[in-house]
Order: sequence, then structure tokens, then C-alpha cells
Amino acid sequence: MDYKAYIAERLPADGVSREEIAESIAVPPDTSLGDYALPCFKFAKILHKSSVLIAQELAASYPADGVISEATAVNGYLNFKVNRRGLAEETLARIEREGERYGSSTVGAGKTVCIDYSSVNVAKPFHIGHLSTTVLGGALYRIFQFLGYKAVGINHLGDYGTQFGKLIAAYKHWGNREDVQKGGIHAINDLYVRFNSEATEEMEAEAREYFRLIESGDKEAVDLFRWFKELTLDYVQKIYEKLHVTFDSYAGESFYIDKMGPVIDELKEKGLLVESRGAQVVDLEPYGMTPFIVLRSDGASLYGTRDLAAAFYRKQTYDFDKCLYVVAYQQNLHFKQLFKVIELMGEPWAKDLVHVAYGMVSLEDGAMSTRQGKVIWLEDVIGRCVEKAFQIISEKNPALENKEEVAEKVGVGAVMFGALYNNKIKDIVFSYDKALNFDGETSVYVQYTCARAASVLGKAEIGQVRIPEPCDEEFELVKALAEFPETVRAAAEKYEPSCIARFAVDTAQKFNKFYFDCKILQAESEELKNFRLALTKATLTSLTNALTLLGIGVPEKM
Ligand code: ARG
Repeated sequence: MDYKAYIAERLPADGVSREEIAESIAVPPDTSLGDYALPCFKFAKILHKSSVLIAQELAASYPADGVISEATAVNGYLNFKVNRRGLAEETLARIEREGERYGSSTVGAGKTVCIDYSSVNVAKPFHIGHLSTTVLGGALYRIFQFLGYKAVGINHLGDYGTQFGKLIAAYKHWGNREDVQKGGIHAINDLYVRFNSEATEEMEAEAREYFRLIESGDKEAVDLFRWFKELTLDYVQKIYEKLHVTFDSYAGESFYIDKMGPVIDELKEKGLLVESRGAQVVDLEPYGMTPFIVLRSDGASLYGTRDLAAAFYRKQTYDFDKCLYVVAYQQNLHFKQLFKVIELMGEPWAKDLVHVAYGMVSLEDGAMSTRQGKVIWLEDVIGRCVEKAFQIISEKNPALENKEEVAEKVGVGAVMFGALYNNKIKDIVFSYDKALNFDGETSVYVQYTCARAASVLGKAEIGQVRIPEPCDEEFELVKALAEFPETVRAAAEKYEPSCIARFAVDTAQKFNKFYFDCKILQAESEELKNFRLALTKATLTSLTNALTLLGIGVPEKM
């Protein structure tokens, strides 16, 4: 149940909307006074009364019932106590009923959300910088689906540009078929790096010519380009499998080459295209931005031109209600410009385009460097983390079966959680030791808690459950579990999977407090034992759902 809405429904609302009241209700840090609290100072101005008086009046008239057992005023706050047994009964019943659908809803039924994420560059390294977009996008994809939306995952491949001419030139000079086929993306990347450091004027000219050949559809050039793309996709596919992400479309930049014309024509017709130093641009000065370049002076299209065509194509193809771009904040200006141009074209759906920006990930041992040859491949970070996870697990539990499988879930999860736990806009420094700390705010802590819960549940059957008045530890856990559906909704609304990651850590902490302070299998009575087992099961269900939404695996044993 949504307690905040329930409380708000029962408060008088003069001059303030019920939603506003519900949004103001918070869970106080010290729960000895109340389970929920409404700070009344926010309404003092509107109601022309002191917050203390407002709280007192509201407390006197609040109709306590079987859900909210008490409303009291303390220093301008209105505190509510929840009927513990009522909440426990309702929450456990709901989790039991909904199981792996607990937290889902149908709010998104009939709506489509496109999510542009990962969007790697062909023939370039899949480096640690791609971690966030891939796992945040993957999580948002599942979260929206869980809420009933139709989600369309789009990998807007960077598969167009002069670099492919360079690559062909480098391949022709230094490469051979077997080595590149065997070395895959690494071999391609080496060629590219070598071109950038060793290419002569002559080779640069060749590169330009090869790019022109790709554009004009020359068979040999196009075949080579396709081959490089295939090798890249084969490679990234393996990483996507590890990270549990999938896509519905791989329409990359090259897909839009023949779709830019009509959009450019429309810009012209609407009088939005102006010439600036030979280039065709949309002037955005009135909006405080540099011009959006549509065609370079040599007539070539740009990244932005392709994005413009892609936005129209997506609207036509998917008729989205929202289109998200999960891209680093370095591209803030690009998306502001892009969205503005579409708005200026008079498209009402410009408001449905959202840049979901995120911060940088670097490693503790030396900042990430994209300078030539010094790239940190995501594959290596994952590999190392899984290896370390294996060592730790082997030490902690030498008798564990399937250590490799568990290490894979723990290690991959730890890397992913690094990008999922903090507010997405923050820059993050990834540390292997911190990420694999069994007692930290980590995925492995949550996974370990799941294994602990599963182990308890494996030792006893749950009999008939009759819910007693919960003690503090039980009740704190129940309250945390009850928050999950709202947490999922908030994660979607704010495009913030970290809400779910934080839920997982918080709930795991509360479960562990309960686990250490309350005897489960040795409870004082059969009734209490059954209740505690049911609570353990509900915790396992909720934590599993949370980790699954984030794309992180849950080992049965650890
Ligand atoms: N390939 C681009 C890059 O690595 C990201 C593309 C993001 N998506 C888009 N529609 N622009 O920077």
C-alpha cells in the first residue's frame, strides 16, 4: 500500500494538492517518533499559520484507523505511526501473491519508451567509459518493462565516419585477413592506433579516398567496413551477455545516411537552415547555444545530423511516449541543441526526448585514459574482478560448489553495481577491493544476504502464518519491503536505477539486523517462527527482484 497517499487522502487539503502533501511526507531518520512524518513548515506560508499550529490542528482531527494507529504533533511535524501488524500482514501477503512480479505495475500499459544506450563505436575499444551507459540503460530497460511499458532498446552504433577510411588504409598497409579475424576488435584497434601515430600524408589521402569509396558503395570498401563491424559486434555481444543487456535494434549512424535528406529539406522549408562560414547550421544563439551544424562546408553530414534523422525515424517507427538517450554528460550541449532544433521544427514530441546523463567512471589505480593505446578495456576490468571474487570466495567458503559460477555473478555484479549504486550523474572511482567488500554497500553484500536467507529457508518449511505484533527489527524490515513498488516507480520517474540499488542495500542491512537480533529457526513459538520465515522469504523475493532489475545475478549459495 502507498502509505503516503493513504495519509494524504485523510488530511484536509485547503490550497494544497493531495499529491503535494503525499510528496512532502517522509520517513524520519529517527523512527521512534513515527514511521512517517509531514513537515508542516512548507504549508505555513499558504495557510498563514505557524507550522506548530498546523501540526497540532491536523493531529487533533486526523482519523486514526487500522492502518495508521496514531498521529501526533511534535515541533511543527505531524508524525504518524503505522499499525505494525496491519502493514506486516498486507506486505507479506502481497509479496507472496506477486512473487517475481512484486514491484511491477501496469502504469505503462500501452506506452512505449525508446532507450538509446551503450551505443558503442565500431572498431573502437569497448572501454570502461561504456560501463555506465550499458548497465544504466539495461536497468532502465527492465524497469520500464516491469512497469508495463513497451521498451525498445536501441544500440545507436557509431558506425560511420572518416575513421573507417583510416582503418581500411591501415589494414591495407599493415594488416592481413587471418590476424584480424583472429585478433578481432583488438587487432582492429591496434591498426587504428598505429594509423594515428604513423600515417603519412599519403596514407591520410588514401584514407579519405577509402571513406569516399565506402560512401559511394564500392564493393571492396563496403565489405571491409562490414567485416570490421561484424567483428566488433561479435565481441561486444559477449560482454552484453555477461552484463545481461539486450537490444531490439542495432540501427547505428550509418543506418540514417539515406534518411537525412528529408529532414534537411524540412529544415530548409521551415527557414531554419542558415549558412555560416560555408556550413549549413541552425542558429541557436537566441537560446544561448552555439549553432547546430547540419552539413559541413564540404557537404558532409555530422554526428548530430544523424541523430536528427534518428529521432524522426524513431518517432515514426515506434511512436514513443518517451525517447531516452543514456549518454555521458560530456554530450549535454549536443542533446540540448538537438532537442531544441526539433522543437523549433514544431514537433510537439520534442518534449518527450530526454538526455539521461551520467558521470565518469575511472579506476582507482590511475584515471581512465582514452589516449592512444592507454585505454582500459571493460573486458579486463570484469575479468579481473571475477578473478578476485573467485579468490575471496575460495578463501571464505572452500567447500562451495560451482565456485566459478558464483564468482562470475559476484564479480560481474560488483562491476555493474559500481555504476548503479550512486546517483548517476556523479563521477565514480571504481575500486576492486571496495566493490568486493562483503560488508560494504555492495552487490556482494546483497548477494550474500540472499544466500543467507535462502539457507535459512532451506532448513525449515513455512507452516501456517499468523502475524503477531512485529518487534522493532521485524517492523523496520517490513517497512523497507513495503517500499519496493514505490522505489521501482521512482527509479523510472527519475531515470535513476540507483533508487533500486539503494533499496537493495538498505533492505539487506535491515534483514541482517533482524537476522542477528531475532531467532528465526529457534524462535520462541511456532507461530513466531513461521512469521519470521515468511519475512525471510519475502526479503529474498524482494532482493532478488531488485538485483534482477539491475541485471545482477543471485547465487543460491555462497
Ligand atoms: N557512439 C557515441 C559515443 O560513443 C554515443 C551515441 C549516443 N547516442 C546517440 N544517439 N547520440 O559517444
